[in-house]
Amino acid sequence: MNQTIETILNHRSVRKFTEQALTNDQIRLIVESAQSASTSSFIQAYSIIGVKDKEKKRKLAELAGNQSYVENNGHLFIFCADLYRHTVAAEIEGKDISESIESTEKFMVSLIDAALAAQNAAIAAESMGLGICYIGGIRNNLEEVTKLLKTPDYVIPLFAIVVGYPDQQTEKKPRAPFHHVYHEEEYEQDLGKYKEELEQYNNEISAYYNERTAGKRTDTWTSQMVGMLGNKSRLYMKDFVTKKKLDLK
Ligand SMILES: Cc1cc2nc3c(=O)[nH]c(=O)nc-3n(C[C@H](O)[C@H](O)[C@H](O)COP(=O)(O)O)c2cc1C
Repeated sequence: MNQTIETILNHRSVRKFTEQALTNDQIRLIVESAQSASTSSFIQAYSIIGVKDKEKKRKLAELAGNQSYVENNGHLFIFCADLYRHTVAAEIEGKDISESIESTEKFMVSLIDAALAAQNAAIAAESMGLGICYIGGIRNNLEEVTKLLKTPDYVIPLFAIVVGYPDQQTEKKPRAPFHHVYHEEEYEQDLGKYKEELEQYNNEISAYYNERTAGKRTDTWTSQMVGMLGNKSRLYMKDFVTKKKLDLK
C-alpha cells in the first residue's frame, strides 16, 4: 500500500488539538493542495477564508453550536461556494452572465468544486501529520457568519475545516457496507439483501460506540440516521441562498 492510500484510509476526525499554530508555509501548502483539485470547466467556483484571530474563532465556535475545537485549533479554514469572482470577470468582459450564475446548476457546480477542494486540503493536512475535522455547524447561522466574514453576494460559507496537531487518539469509524456504496453496472435492487447488510452494519456500529464510550452508547447507524433526519434543520437555507443571488432559477 502506498503512503497516499495509507493517509486516506487512516482518516478519523480530530476534535482536540494542541495550542501549536500552523505555520504560513503549512497554510499555503494546504491551500495550494485544495487549488490543485479538479474543477468543473476550470470555473474554480469556491474560496477559502482562513481565520487566525482568536476572538473571531471564539465567535464562530459559538455560532457553530459551541464546538470548542472551532476556537481551539492550529488553523481554521472556511470553505465557501463562490461565484463572485465570475461577476467580476463579467464586468471585465463587459457581459451580463447573471442568468447563468444565478442558476441551480451553477450553484451545484460551486458546491461540488468547494467540496473537492476541501477534501484535497484535508488529505494534504493529514499527510503532514495534522488532524482535521469538518464543521458544518457554521451553517446554523449563516446570516451572522457572513457578517463576521464580510462575504459579498454570490458567496456562501459552506463548512469549515479545523486543522491542528492532534491532542487525542480517536478510533477509525466503520463505513457503510461496500456494496451499498459501490454498485456495479446498476443500482442494487434486492431489498432483502440490502436490509440484511444494513443490519450487519448496525451491529458493527453499535459495537464501535460501545467500545468508544465504555458502554454509554450503543446506538445503531439506522437509529442514528432516523433520529437525526427526523428533525428538520436549517430551514432558512433556501431563502438565504436565494438572497445571496444563487440557486434562483
Ligand atoms: C460537511 C461536513 C460537516 C461536518 N460537520 C461537523 C461538525 O459541525 N462538528 C463535528 O464535530 N463534526 C462534523 N463533521 C465530521 C463528521 O461527523 C465525521 O466526518 C463523521 O462522523 C465520520 O467520522 P470520521 O470523520 O471520524 O471518520 C462534519 C463532516 C462533514 C463532511
